Amino acid sequence: MTTATAAPRTNSPRPHKHRPDTPETTTEPRRNPPTFLSDPYPTLARMRESAPVSVLHGDGGLRLWIIPRYADVRAALSDPRFAQDARRAQALADSRVEGVNMGTDITHMLSSDPPDHTRLRRVVQAAFSRKRVEAMRPMVERITLELLDGLDAAAARHTTRTTTAAVDLVRDFAFPLPILVVCELLGFPPEDRDLYRKWSTTIVTQEGDHAAFRRAVQEMGAYVLAIADRRIRRDERPADLLTELLAARERGELTDDEIVGMVALLLIGGHETTVNLLSTSCLALLREPGQAAWLRADPTRMPGAVEEFLRYDSPICMATTRFTTEPVDVGGVVIPQDEFVLLSLGAANRDPARFQDPDRLILDRRDAGHLAFGGGIHRCLGALLGKLETEIALTALLARFPGTTLACQEGDLRWRNTMMLRGLEALPVTLHR
Ligand code: HEM
Repeated sequence: MTTATAAPRTNSPRPHKHRPDTPETTTEPRRNPPTFLSDPYPTLARMRESAPVSVLHGDGGLRLWIIPRYADVRAALSDPRFAQDARRAQALADSRVEGVNMGTDITHMLSSDPPDHTRLRRVVQAAFSRKRVEAMRPMVERITLELLDGLDAAAARHTTRTTTAAVDLVRDFAFPLPILVVCELLGFPPEDRDLYRKWSTTIVTQEGDHAAFRRAVQEMGAYVLAIADRRIRRDERPADLLTELLAARERGELTDDEIVGMVALLLIGGHETTVNLLSTSCLALLREPGQAAWLRADPTRMPGAVEEFLRYDSPICMATTRFTTEPVDVGGVVIPQDEFVLLSLGAANRDPARFQDPDRLILDRRDAGHLAFGGGIHRCLGALLGKLETEIALTALLARFPGTTLACQEGDLRWRNTMMLRGLEALPVTLHR
């Protein structure tokens, strides 16, 4: 019925102890080979071609069913038989293996099912409407220009008559931009951004190290509640999202834990994704200067191009782990009840059954409909904001530094060490005005 695919290790969930009760596959847990991180698409294509569902085992042997085909992923995203409640997922995982971390230390909408999901999402929905996001445009433009000025100054400082200095576009541009935007949105101090990055990286990539994960969540929680308390003591109500969250708490719609979870989700979801999209889009344009020139010639092409960057290298390669609440037939394969499932957005967005010539970056592609923002009730709340940031950032970067080149061999680039996200650790470039 199912195909055992020699797939790489996942980072979430990452169980520790194997129980030999897994008949579908003999696949042993494996380390992510560097080739998978730098180019996961051949592996994802093999999965997609071989069967509608593949099984892989996490480190400790927890069985995970991967759905890679576009039509199946799209259907599953809107199917309530795939649930996400973290507490139920934890109980299920605990009944199989020991030590798996399903993220119950944080309560947020992405790890909740209705009615909790509906209530949590409603509190912040309006803040991400088209009108509110459009109102953020001047703020995003200002931050972008400040960062570009910083890049300019850094390059000038380190450039001599004979050598041109390289800068890291991830560290100096792609990371600070979305995190500074989320800080403005929430009303959080931007100078603490390295702290947010540290917590976020730990939470996203260290699920296996439960102690580190828990410490990061606790530190972040204490930090968020201290800011909230200070506001209440001083009776400060600036026009930002934290004020709206505190008002919701006053109305009894949110608990303290849910405020912390909401902030954590927005801080993490708001930058881990956009930073990846920015870094992979920049790399794609560095690889193909002709495409960069085409975009620079007419900035109105940018919104369509960003949709294609999202499809081509989807920042979330695997959606959050789900579990089945009853048996589900996926393309003729029945996934039994109480099984963990990964929906591969990265594989779906390269499915030749849905997209023509899917492995080519075609910036004026007409066949829209990528799944990079997920779908169904959990469809990305910040999609409009993520796209706005990327459009503004790429347009400004291309205009300011038209002759930018990669400052290392492409094979030397380091990719994020997780199969859930797709993004670069660093992107060294030489800037040319
Ligand atoms: C280009 C950037 C982005 C991409 C590719 C992206 C992608 C996604 C995806 C795939 C999901 C659904 C995951 C799942 O179903 O398992 C999601 C959910 C979410 N995203 Fe984004 N995201 C981006 C930017 C943002 C931004 C800027 C914010 C907010 C500041 C944000 C906030 C959220 C939230 C709150 C959810 C949970 C929605 C729910 O559970 O109802 N995202 N995102």
